[in-house]
Amino acid sequence: MFSRYRKTDSKPVKPANEAAATRPEPTPSGGGSAAPAPTSIRRAAPKAKPPAQVAAADKERKRKERLAEIKLDLHHALLDNLNLSALETASESDLKAEISDIATEVLQEKGIVLNREDRTQINQELYDEVRGLGPLETLLKDESVNDILVNGPHRIFVERSGKLELTDVTFKDEKHLLRIIDKIVSAVGRRVDESNPYVDARLADGSRFNAMVPPIAVDGSLVSIRKFTKEKLGIDDLIRFGAFSEEMAAYLQAAVACRLNIIVSGGTGSGKTTTLNALSSFIDNSERILTIEDTAELQLQQIHVGRMESRPPNVEGKGAVTQRDCLRNALRMRPDRIIVGETRGDEVIDMLQAMNTGHDGSMTTIHANSARDGVSRMENMIAMSGIEMPTKAVRAQIASAVHLIVQASRLQDGSRRMTSITEVTGMEGEVISMQEVFRYQRTGLTPENKIIGHFTGTGVRSNYSERFRLWGYDLPSGIYDEVSGE
Ligand SMILES: Nc1ncnc2c1ncn2[C@@H]1O[C@H](COP(=O)(O)OP(=O)(O)OP(=O)(O)O)[C@@H](O)[C@H]1O
Ligand SMILES: [Mg+2]
Repeated sequence: MFSRYRKTDSKPVKPANEAAATRPEPTPSGGGSAAPAPTSIRRAAPKAKPPAQVAAADKERKRKERLAEIKLDLHHALLDNLNLSALETASESDLKAEISDIATEVLQEKGIVLNREDRTQINQELYDEVRGLGPLETLLKDESVNDILVNGPHRIFVERSGKLELTDVTFKDEKHLLRIIDKIVSAVGRRVDESNPYVDARLADGSRFNAMVPPIAVDGSLVSIRKFTKEKLGIDDLIRFGAFSEEMAAYLQAAVACRLNIIVSGGTGSGKTTTLNALSSFIDNSERILTIEDTAELQLQQIHVGRMESRPPNVEGKGAVTQRDCLRNALRMRPDRIIVGETRGDEVIDMLQAMNTGHDGSMTTIHANSARDGVSRMENMIAMSGIEMPTKAVRAQIASAVHLIVQASRLQDGSRRMTSITEVTGMEGEVISMQEVFRYQRTGLTPENKIIGHFTGTGVRSNYSERFRLWGYDLPSGIYDEVSGE
């Protein structure tokens, strides 16, 4: 047998009955200790299933449980038999062949017969376990999944179409989960342990990864993964999904092309980065764009793009390069526009300065629940940075820098929409004046709890109409009309 990756001192495999007797209740995937039954937190109305369906579901559940148990046995056998250091350099096909050989051997010893489909599935899961990210691997490959959220080893949630669901995927135990976290963070030269209990990293496929381990995470490690989507949603997709109307898209196209400074405001996972990315498609190909992000997510289509990613300090606490550092340097790199993925700290000062000093058409996102709230957040960030400036001066700086605030929201039914487009029009006394030009009008709820509503102008004409006209974007005044939605 092909055994390049075998340990020389491999231990004997436990017999099936002994292994089963010492093992806690198996789970459908990943195997392990008592995990909750697979449920969904969706509030779908339960319908009585016909007996045949119940029997089929029961059979499928039993099949999964049996497979999980067998997989656990095989996994132990693999860990006992494989030489892990040799694995680092093994090719995918070699490793797969070796796993398949060991699995065949163990199954034969135990007298277990599996059909071809189950064998293939088990071999793939074992490969994921050894080479990849274990139970997370299937979820990472599932294209319908946007976010993966792990609350301790036995509860893994995913977000599909804006809704959170509990999956039947589990880790064996906390140790297993920690091993996978460690695998991820050590691959990017970081460390996570008791003294350094949380970490931000990027997976090889570009997905954003955050983990927090005990004792700070009280009930087991917490992991959040924002999956990287190769094909970012474009303007047409977003219109088709009902994220905003064609009128709003025409307005935004004019706003971006005419170099208004835009802030995309929204809550966590509301679609800020997606909106920013889509808006950037309106930038002319001839412009030099510099992007600055904590985790490089933006995918600009233009040819002249310089991408920067900030860097956290290393294990000795040295070598950090902040977004602010990147932004300051970017100003010396002759950009036409600067795009900052998310403004969350003292880089706000440099961002506003860039917007005020000849880098018109710059954009960023901010974590806030409304345009007004977004402005207060900026004021707070400036105050927190330690700069002593009178409130009025701070507001004047914001009012002259920011032209437009686009509000992205994730509504209660999971849908993501642009709920408001607001223009900053100047100062009135000590207050920043704004006018909303478009909004999402909610009108009701379907029996399935889906929100009914429509996009409408507010009847207020854009403050920038003249600028749009002069730049060749003569928008019809009708796009600002209020619509009743009938
Ligand atoms: N209008 C939309 N319709 C459907 N899916 C969307 C829409 N907008 C965004 N998404 C998806 O929602 C997820 C979150 O989007 P995005 O990363 O843009 O949010 P975010 O506000 O930047 O999140 P964070 O606060 O974590 O940075 C992504 O997987 C994205 O593909
Ligand atoms: Mg984002």
